Amino acid sequence: TELSKIRNFSIVAHIDHGKSTLADRLIQSTGTVQDRDMKEQLLDAMDIERERGITIKANTVRIDYEADDGERYVLNLIDTPGHVDFAYEVSRSMRAVEGSLLVVDSTQGVEAQTLANVYQAIDADHEIVPVLNKIDLPAADCDRVAEQIEDVIGIDATDAIQVSAKTGIGIKETLEAIVKRLPAPKGERDAPLKAMLVDSWYDAYLGVIVLVRIMDGVLKKGDQIRMMQTNARYGVERIGVFRPAMQTVDELGPGEIGFITASIKQVRDTKVGDTITHDKKGAEVALPGFKPSVPVVFCGLFPVDSSEFEDLRNAIEKLALNDASFSYEMETSAALGFGFRCGFLGLLHLEVIRDRIEREYNIELITTAPSVVYHVFGKDGVMSELHNPADMPDLSTVDHVEEPRIKATILVPDEYLGDVLKLCQDRRGIQEDLSYAGSRAMVVYDLPLNEVVFDFYDRLKSVTKGYASFDYQMIGYRIDNLVKMSVLVNDEPVDALSMMVHRDRAEARGRAMCEKLKELIPRHMFKIPIQAAIGGKVIARETLSAMRKDVTAKCYGGDATRKRKLLDKQKAGKKKMRQFGRVDIPQEAFISALKMD
Ligand code: GTP
Repeated sequence: TELSKIRNFSIVAHIDHGKSTLADRLIQSTGTVQDRDMKEQLLDAMDIERERGITIKANTVRIDYEADDGERYVLNLIDTPGHVDFAYEVSRSMRAVEGSLLVVDSTQGVEAQTLANVYQAIDADHEIVPVLNKIDLPAADCDRVAEQIEDVIGIDATDAIQVSAKTGIGIKETLEAIVKRLPAPKGERDAPLKAMLVDSWYDAYLGVIVLVRIMDGVLKKGDQIRMMQTNARYGVERIGVFRPAMQTVDELGPGEIGFITASIKQVRDTKVGDTITHDKKGAEVALPGFKPSVPVVFCGLFPVDSSEFEDLRNAIEKLALNDASFSYEMETSAALGFGFRCGFLGLLHLEVIRDRIEREYNIELITTAPSVVYHVFGKDGVMSELHNPADMPDLSTVDHVEEPRIKATILVPDEYLGDVLKLCQDRRGIQEDLSYAGSRAMVVYDLPLNEVVFDFYDRLKSVTKGYASFDYQMIGYRIDNLVKMSVLVNDEPVDALSMMVHRDRAEARGRAMCEKLKELIPRHMFKIPIQAAIGGKVIARETLSAMRKDVTAKCYGGDATRKRKLLDKQKAGKKKMRQFGRVDIPQEAFISALKMD
């Protein structure tokens, strides 16, 4: 296709503002998919995405459109993941296109995620077309929302398109705006091949599928290609486009977006952001800005039933094939036995993987508390990364510890501002900015990632009754007074419960943790001390008193079936517990004990 007849774009929106619905409508109205084949939300392929209503893997679709000027255009839509955990994937997809539709729900207005994603689009030099969605609803207020887009984001909204992705109003105008207002891609057909690796995923039939955007040159079936970062070489087997079903083509030229397959075994061999070129007469210099996505949150995954360890290994290996940003290594815990220490891009990523293991592979898991990656500097000046608080070296050998910090942007209606400020302050936040957009406040905080990773978002939602929106980006590492707190149950250390805390918060955290555990651990036949300690020093203590009677005692001589039932129940319950010395700890304890109220 001629460059001037191509338009590449993405859709930027806050969750639920209607991105998928609009994408579906654009696809449907151009006849790309027949009405009867139209499934709700075509672009969200995986069940789990559909259930949670979030888009995880970037998807793409090629739309043919005959515009009012009588010309036929090829419109390539790249669907970007909406969640901050996938910020790097978003930024790569943005670099593969020239423009964005900024979709804002006209009954809601600009939200924190809109902001985070639109700034990525601005960074990528996009032409941005504002789209005010859901105008069919009585609460729609286009003037107010347009004004907000100008005030808060700082882009011109005078030509914002008023749309109802639900009823179809404004869809034609949106297609025309894509053609008229977004720039055509640039690129040279005769230059050496430069294709950006935008995304990749594993397909059970075809192996690894790689989504590419051709910058320069031409890619054909049978070409010998080389990945410039990893230096791996492959022969291209299949080449095609998504409409949205796969359709093979002979070649992809400059400005085009499509897929290739090349007998690539694992998704990890394809690094998002890498440059693909021809093995012979290839490009000399790769596309700028490659950086691999690194996991920032780690936690342990252990099977509840320890005989399922091999099944868990199998599940994790399969999932890792399809997700290059998920890392894992085997871990043994004195308390939990064999399992894996896994690294994730963020909390949502963790939840998605955990859910998939439990649901698709039917393995019940114990998840230990998520932890961030600390930089531990030894007295000898050597820095090591700490992925697991249990591995924290002895304090006498440690010079100092650095923790990752984030910049968090929160938008919240005025009346909840006080609660939000208090929450951020409680989490060791440093306020950087506070401004207003209408009746809503926008606060920017510098916060330790550690304080956010666990339950910050839940707390934020609850103190603002769901009205706050939140987004963050990593800003780097900073030194602080951080120590490891261990937990002892019946005088045995429980490694899975150790955590890094700020020294000034340690007593309070320790006390809260002991109180929580006292509630969560069932009584035994003996007294159980529960302690929190730093180094060898106990900083908090609770005692769980002994149980008076056996549950089944009252059944002696009585109803035998009832007694057996009770024992069966106990046995089933026991499976979900882990023995620490002589004490059984229920699996919920590992997560619940760390939640702060
Ligand atoms: P994520 O995929 O979770 O990021 O959300 P999204 O932005 O893709 O939103 P989605 O398309 O799933 O729409 C969210 C909800 O809004 C759905 O219930 C849609 O049916 C509804 N919706 C989308 N567009 C419109 C519209 O124009 N009018 C009305 N009334 N509802 C709409």
